[in-house]
Amino acid sequence: MLSISEYREAIIEYLHEKIKVKEPANLYEPMVYILEQGGKRLRPVLVLMATEIFDCDYRKALDAALAIEVFHNFSLVHDDIMDDAPIRRGRETVHEKWDINTGILSGDAMLINAYQLFETYEGDTFKELSSLFTRTAIQVCEGQQYDIDFETRDDVTIEDYLLMIEYKTAVLVGASLQMGAIVAQTSATCKEAIYQYGNLLGIAFQLQDDYLDAFGDPETFGKQPGGDIIENKKTFLYLKTLELADAHEAQQLEHLYSINPVHNSGKIEAVKALFESSGAADLTRKEIQKYTSMAFDVLDKIDLPEEKKEPLRSFGEMLMERQV
Ligand code: IPE
Ligand code: IPE
Ligand code: MG
Ligand code: MG
Ligand code: MG
Repeated sequence: MLSISEYREAIIEYLHEKIKVKEPANLYEPMVYILEQGGKRLRPVLVLMATEIFDCDYRKALDAALAIEVFHNFSLVHDDIMDDAPIRRGRETVHEKWDINTGILSGDAMLINAYQLFETYEGDTFKELSSLFTRTAIQVCEGQQYDIDFETRDDVTIEDYLLMIEYKTAVLVGASLQMGAIVAQTSATCKEAIYQYGNLLGIAFQLQDDYLDAFGDPETFGKQPGGDIIENKKTFLYLKTLELADAHEAQQLEHLYSINPVHNSGKIEAVKALFESSGAADLTRKEIQKYTSMAFDVLDKIDLPEEKKEPLRSFGEMLMERQV
């Protein structure tokens, strides 16, 4: 087994080899721009780790890992258009630096590229990988549509929210781990269990993303601070605040979420104050822990020697501590 940072380096090196600018430059430059901007590379690292945990050389999984990272970055380019986000990873988003049409088409080409990367695999491995990928990609679209629909709906429940984040984010984390298991041709039971582990970690991961969007350090988080509040996103923070606050505060929050001020009007600060005073901010942290420990329970039951599970556990712990 390599360390997390060694897997990350392996994937970055492979990315440099495979993804290059060619003509027409306006199609490929944005692709290279977003893919080389960094990012944590969590999903491809999970693909490679799972491959080795199930006793197969990680190099066999490089194409699947890169496909997952390219897909993830495609989803970010389109997500930033949909969320009207000006910055990502501390730099201008693709549609800000170029324009919306460029973001749409470069994103499309990345999605197609991701599919192309699976062509290396043959037989049952190819079939399983591509069917998992297709199922996951369509769920991500469904999750993204719910996310947008919820902005203007006033009857969203916590259950709706949890399903939405499972689709838009968690299934891809589950699929990353399962891809490693497929490349390594492990048992059906292990493939299913490792997916469940990733899925639960993914839910914790999106809860954390929402938390950091409001309360992260603007210097390091790399996205527009309070972007979700500006966009009236129905996050766990918002829904819990409505549940916990008294009638007056709940009304205040609903009012703040009904206005779309052009200039900084104090909306972000006012909403954050309600998230905190209601206790929702603390409860979000607890919910992150809850899903992480549910993930660890699944991991405990997987039929693997303890030393193989250790890197996956550390990965989950690292995610919970993350600030970016
Ligand atoms: C951002 O994912 C999108 C979400 C699902 C929250 P990451 O936080 O993994 O983004 P990068 O790739 O590290 O920038
Ligand atoms: C993004 O959720 C999920 C996908 C890109 C599929 P967010 O909209 O919360 O992600 P960020 O915060 O922009 O990275
Ligand atoms: Mg977004
Ligand atoms: Mg979004
Ligand atoms: Mg977010």
